[in-house]
Amino acid sequence: MPAFRGALPLAAFTLALWGACSPVCVEVPSETEAVQGNAMKLRCISCMKREEVEATTVVEWFYRPEGGKDFLIYEYRNGHQAVESPFQGRLQWDGSKDLQDVSITVLNVTLNDSGLYTCNVSREFEFEAHRPFVKTTRLIPLRVTEEAGEDFTSVVSEIMMYILLVFLTLWLLIEMIYCYRKVSKAEEAAQESASDYLAIPSENKENPVVPVEE
Ligand SMILES: *[C@@H]1O[C@H](CO)[C@@H](O)[C@H](O)[C@H]1NC(C)=O
Ligand SMILES: *[C@@H]1O[C@H](CO)[C@@H](O)[C@H](O)[C@H]1NC(C)=O
Ligand SMILES: *[C@@H]1O[C@H](CO)[C@@H](O)[C@H](O)[C@H]1NC(C)=O
Repeated sequence: MPAFRGALPLAAFTLALWGACSPVCVEVPSETEAVQGNAMKLRCISCMKREEVEATTVVEWFYRPEGGKDFLIYEYRNGHQAVESPFQGRLQWDGSKDLQDVSITVLNVTLNDSGLYTCNVSREFEFEAHRPFVKTTRLIPLRVTEEAGEDFTSVVSEIMMYILLVFLTLWLLIEMIYCYRKVSKAEEAAQESASDYLAIPSENKENPVVPVEE
C-alpha cells in the first residue's frame, strides 16, 4: 500500500523533471495533501499553443474555505501584484518565466489552509484586432493534515492484515497440535495392534487397500 502511494508523486516528479529538461510542456496536476508547518506547492501548469506565445498572461489564484466563498489571494498581471488576504506574506511565486507554469507556494501551511484553490489563467492575444481570450482553470482541493501519515483506509487495511496474520498463526498452531495428538494416538494404537496382528500395518487396517483387478 505505501509503495503504491509513493509511486504517484514519483511519477509526477519524473514527468515534471522531463517537462523541465525538455521544451515539452506537461500539465502535471498538483498534489492535494499538505502537512501542517511545511511549504506546499500549488501546481498550476497551463501549456501554451504556438499562437499563445504572443499573448499577455494574467494569473489569478483564489481560495475558498469549506463552506465559504472564493476570494483572491494572488495575482500576476504585468508582474506580481500585492493582494490583501489572510495569506499575505506566505505566498511565493513558483512558476516559470514563460508563464506556462504559474504555480505558487504556500509557506508554513496551517490546518485552516484546507479548502479549494482555483488557478485561473487568461491569455489575451496581442496581434489580433478583437483580442480574443483563452482561459484555463485548475481546481486544487487541498487537505492539510497534522502529521505526515497514512490515511484511514490504509491504516484499517494494515490492522486487518495483522489480525489475519495472528488468526492464521493460531489456526496453524491448533492444527499442528491436533495433528500431533492424532498421530501419537495412531502410533499408540499401532503399537497395541502390532502386538496383536504383527503382519498388518495400522494404516492398512483402517483403510484396507482394495486390490485392483487386472
Ligand atoms: C484561519 O482561521 C481564522 C479564524 O478562524 C480566520 O480568521 C482566517 O481567515 C483563517 N485563515 C484562512 C487562510 O482562511
Ligand atoms: C508557522 O505558523 C505558526 C502558527 O501560526 C507559527 O507559530 C510559526 O512560528 C510559523 N513558522 C514559521 C517558520 O513561520
Ligand atoms: C475562473 O475562470 C472560470 C472561467 O472563466 C470562471 O468560471 C470562474 O468563476 C473563475 N473562478 C473564479 C474563482 O473567479
